[in-house]
Amino acid sequence: MASAATDVRAIFDRIAGRYDTANRVMSAGLDVLWRRRAMRLLLDGLDPSPWVLDLGAGTLDGAVEILRQRPSAQVVAADFTRAMLVAGRRKPGAALVALHAADSHRLPYRDGAFLAAFSGFCVRNLRDPALGLAELRRVVRPGGRLVLLEFFRPARPRPFWDGLVTNRLMPLLGWAASGDRAAYRYLPESIRRFDTRGDFEARLRAAGFATVRGQDLFPGGIASLVEAR
Ligand SMILES: C[S@@+](CC[C@H](N)C(=O)[O-])C[C@H]1O[C@@H](n2cnc3c(N)ncnc32)[C@H](O)[C@@H]1O
Repeated sequence: MASAATDVRAIFDRIAGRYDTANRVMSAGLDVLWRRRAMRLLLDGLDPSPWVLDLGAGTLDGAVEILRQRPSAQVVAADFTRAMLVAGRRKPGAALVALHAADSHRLPYRDGAFLAAFSGFCVRNLRDPALGLAELRRVVRPGGRLVLLEFFRPARPRPFWDGLVTNRLMPLLGWAASGDRAAYRYLPESIRRFDTRGDFEARLRAAGFATVRGQDLFPGGIASLVEAR
């Protein structure tokens, strides 16, 4: 979770042009597979032409994957860092995505505007996650679904993954790929300050999602996928 003192928008504004490279290097390309898997879960059995929100869409990797899997979807990508959306807009398929500069704490959409919503690695950055989830609940139609990818604080110590990978290797690779040391120091710090997956699933239930299912992703459960309906 972002501390009150952290200027999250300024961090993503600085790294927007190098964000994708840093992601691929830090995850060894696994982030692409994680999004594919998330979108299969999001779109499975859904209406042929659903309205889908990608919240904290960043450089649009999630939004274009939704369209790759479901070309007839109406995809809206919302993010409060314009530079991230701009960095993604030349990707194949991105021209079909509606880009909105919007803050997750106050979404400019009517109640039930979307049949489905995805959010990748965004909710951990929110100043007030409960408010962000209440907004997501409000804009996703009853009977709709939400799928999130996130790095959660581990429920039990994982000396190898946390001591070496999350706290050292990922910030180092992120720094090398982006040239921005502070941005990639913020990554493990935000994970340490955030919920465990169990805490977060309880938040989703409190926000009004009746069915919540989470799973840890390979390798080491370093990232997780959570589905809520
Ligand atoms: C780690 S990036 C993830 C981008 C993309 N979803 C992905 O999977 O690569 C987090 C994104 O969330 C956005 N973000 C953080 N807090 C936000 C907020 N309060 N409202 C809207 N976007 C926010 C940031 O600007 C950034 O683009």
